[in-house]
Amino acid sequence: MTHADVHALTERRERLLGPGNPLFYDEPVHLVRGEGVWLHDADGNRYLDCYNNVPCVGHCHPRVVEALCAQAGTLNTHTRYLHENILDYAESLLSKFDASLDRVALACTGSEANDLALRVARVNTGGEGFICTNATYHGNTTAVGQLNSIFQPIGGYGEHIRMVPWPDAYRALNDLSGDELADAYADEVKQAIDSFAEAGIPFAGMLVCPIFANEGLPDVPPGYMAKAVAHVREAGGLYIADEVQSGFGRTGRWWGHQQSAVVPDIVTLGKPMGAGHPISGVVARGALLDNYRAHEMYFNTFGGNPVSCAVAMAVLDVIDDEELVQNAADVGNYVLGCFNDLKSRHESIGDVRGSGLFFGIDLVEDRDTKAPAADKARAVVNEMRRHGVLMSKIGEHDNVLKLRPPLCFSRDNADQLVETLDRVLEAA
Ligand SMILES: Cc1ncc(COP(=O)(O)O)c(C=O)c1O
Repeated sequence: MTHADVHALTERRERLLGPGNPLFYDEPVHLVRGEGVWLHDADGNRYLDCYNNVPCVGHCHPRVVEALCAQAGTLNTHTRYLHENILDYAESLLSKFDASLDRVALACTGSEANDLALRVARVNTGGEGFICTNATYHGNTTAVGQLNSIFQPIGGYGEHIRMVPWPDAYRALNDLSGDELADAYADEVKQAIDSFAEAGIPFAGMLVCPIFANEGLPDVPPGYMAKAVAHVREAGGLYIADEVQSGFGRTGRWWGHQQSAVVPDIVTLGKPMGAGHPISGVVARGALLDNYRAHEMYFNTFGGNPVSCAVAMAVLDVIDDEELVQNAADVGNYVLGCFNDLKSRHESIGDVRGSGLFFGIDLVEDRDTKAPAADKARAVVNEMRRHGVLMSKIGEHDNVLKLRPPLCFSRDNADQLVETLDRVLEAA
């Protein structure tokens, strides 16, 4: 594509979709095909995908495509007719969780799953007040948009929301470390709960990503989650783990919440669940969902339809058969080692974090002050794209390189990524 072609496409996009629909990269990528960890653009260039967690089993995995086409060519309705697919899928999905989490409701997007989780928590606790972190995003419904520091909700925040600092061991609260740091961050949760009581707002729960992915993927101080959740439960609230990003093997375990060994009351799922097909879910203790359903009938026209369930089932099967959770752990460890090696040679890397195939590289202006280097992060992301490697950035300061390749990422892929990043950082 010529420069003029790209310009025409971008202009057409803006005319039809309007401004405010951001594109990745200063030079947008026009993708036309994907396969495994590879993406191909309209000019035949190939990119190593180090960003997309949704096609978790690899782009256009043949078994997922086949499952989709077979069911789409047979029947697609909704969940008000009997069908085995939803039951087979529910059984397989729930078998991946702690036995206490034994019920599931299906929807289409992560936002819907979180919205439903909030309703379930409200009905079961009689509460209204929710806690989230101060650098997060959980979705775009009116209710979920309140638990969101990245975009201001229309009309502002309600009285029923409290944002607590996310547990960051790198730019740590009061320069604390270890148990003291975990206590200090957990105490912020306690203070938020107390402030609800003072304001006369009954408490419903805490909704957080268990690995704080959008916050910048911190090394969570050990013990933090157990302490924070203990405060939540003592006050009668529920712990909702948003696993929309961290679920389905991403962290080298099936679920992000397994890192802390605290079993949530409710787990929300999305993104990789259908490897690109829109399916999401709420997994919870049975009593919580049953009690909710006694108050309100939840129906989602597309959620849990036979095609979605066939696709989601194929995703689970591929993760199991290709041992992708183990692969995420193994290759992830290898990549983390390589990134730490890069850190020893590049002053701009302040911190390297991650688990499984999910990494954050915190770029700084100065290692002593830890001043976030957002401009550098942006430049590196754009330069990597020019060198055929796709990634992005996140975090409260927008300075953390974010990498989440498909779970079939290999050591060879890792070497290409690390060598390219080395060169780009050197040039930067
Ligand atoms: C942690 C988290 N939860 C929920 C969502 C919302 O998911 P969806 O865009 O499918 O509604 C996102 C989206 O980025 C997310 O990162």
